[in-house]
Amino acid sequence: MITNQTVRPYIIVIDDDQVMRLSCLKILKKEGYEVATFVDGVEGLENIYQRKPDLVVVDLKMPRLSGMEVISRVHAIDPDICIVVITGYATIGTAVDAMKNGAYDFLPKPFTPDELRLIVRRGLERRMFAKKTAELKKEKQQMQRRFVTFVSHQLQSPLAAVKQYLEVLNFLPDTPDKQAVQKEWIDRSLARISELLELISDWLTISKIESGQLTECTGDANLVKIFNDLKTTFQPECDKKNIFLNISIPEHLPPVPAREDCLRVLFNNLIHNSIKYNKTGGSVQVQAEEKENSIEVLVKDSGIGIPDDKIDLIFEDFYRVKSENTKKIPGTGLGLPICKKIVEELGGAIEVDSKLNVGTAFRINLPKGRGEKGA
Ligand SMILES: Nc1ncnc2c1ncn2[C@@H]1O[C@H](COP(=O)(O)OP(=O)(O)OP(=O)(O)O)[C@@H](O)[C@H]1O
Ligand SMILES: [Mg+2]
Repeated sequence: MITNQTVRPYIIVIDDDQVMRLSCLKILKKEGYEVATFVDGVEGLENIYQRKPDLVVVDLKMPRLSGMEVISRVHAIDPDICIVVITGYATIGTAVDAMKNGAYDFLPKPFTPDELRLIVRRGLERRMFAKKTAELKKEKQQMQRRFVTFVSHQLQSPLAAVKQYLEVLNFLPDTPDKQAVQKEWIDRSLARISELLELISDWLTISKIESGQLTECTGDANLVKIFNDLKTTFQPECDKKNIFLNISIPEHLPPVPAREDCLRVLFNNLIHNSIKYNKTGGSVQVQAEEKENSIEVLVKDSGIGIPDDKIDLIFEDFYRVKSENTKKIPGTGLGLPICKKIVEELGGAIEVDSKLNVGTAFRINLPKGRGEKGA
């Protein structure tokens, strides 16, 4: 029986035998399906063109249009429509041919209501699976198209700006402050080029994650080493901005089954954000703790925070919070989507908690390495 379903599967039965039509109708309607019956292939096909049913039950031996012909035409309309052939024992050989032509299965006459119910249920499951796969494929293609359009646009705007700046430089009049003006335009060009390079690097990281190159497990990564290196990388920037960077990782933390460069990308992005979206005199704290089945890392800052209504958006590709606080901070909006993709590919989880003007905390759980307690 169908329960809780918004769209009832639509099934049609094509058979010139009235008793067969009526008994199929009764059995299948009782199951909760929407059912229609047709006396021959011509009428049935008309309905298939109009309504695209989920499943077609068709007799092979019929006047006007044979069942085999119906199968070929249905297949041409939509190869994912599931076709179940019903046939007398004498034509089982033909039924096998029908399956070769695209029918899903066949039911020899006479059959019991249970046999019909079972074959239809299985056929519908296959149909739903095929539909879902096709929808996902379409969605992915649309996303790829949108992504390409968006990235092309993102590449175009800094390049167009740099071109403009170079034109200005080319025609700069000889004035006493020419050198200072030149420097300003060169600095602007360099900033736009850095933006572009960052975007390309993020884009490459995403394509590596999607192809599994970055997240495939090729050993155990040592978080202690990674965080020591990250401290060395970020300390100068923190000193410059007067931000207190505290990274506290237990020395005997078990390894994480992941590539080291993948975890570096993850924590580099999170710590970089905590510094970038911080305030002078603020702090960034990184802590790691061994849990029963995972390693939990907390990256917490006392920065500008994220507005409540924007929290759900920060993991979307290219999303950046637009505010007075952020408008001068450069970025592409791909850092957190990359973090989320990495964590999920590794079988972990990432959560965020933030309060505007108070700070933000990202909590990451990663599966523990082999041979460790609870692993
Ligand atoms: N620690 C944080 N504190 C406050 N806001 C944050 C923090 N981390 C992220 N955000 C907000 O989330 C947005 C998305 O972050 P994300 O890292 O994806 O992109 P980005 O930092 O803008 O650019 P990039 O791709 O260079 O990392 C940021 O633009 C910022 O508005
Ligand atoms: Mg970022």
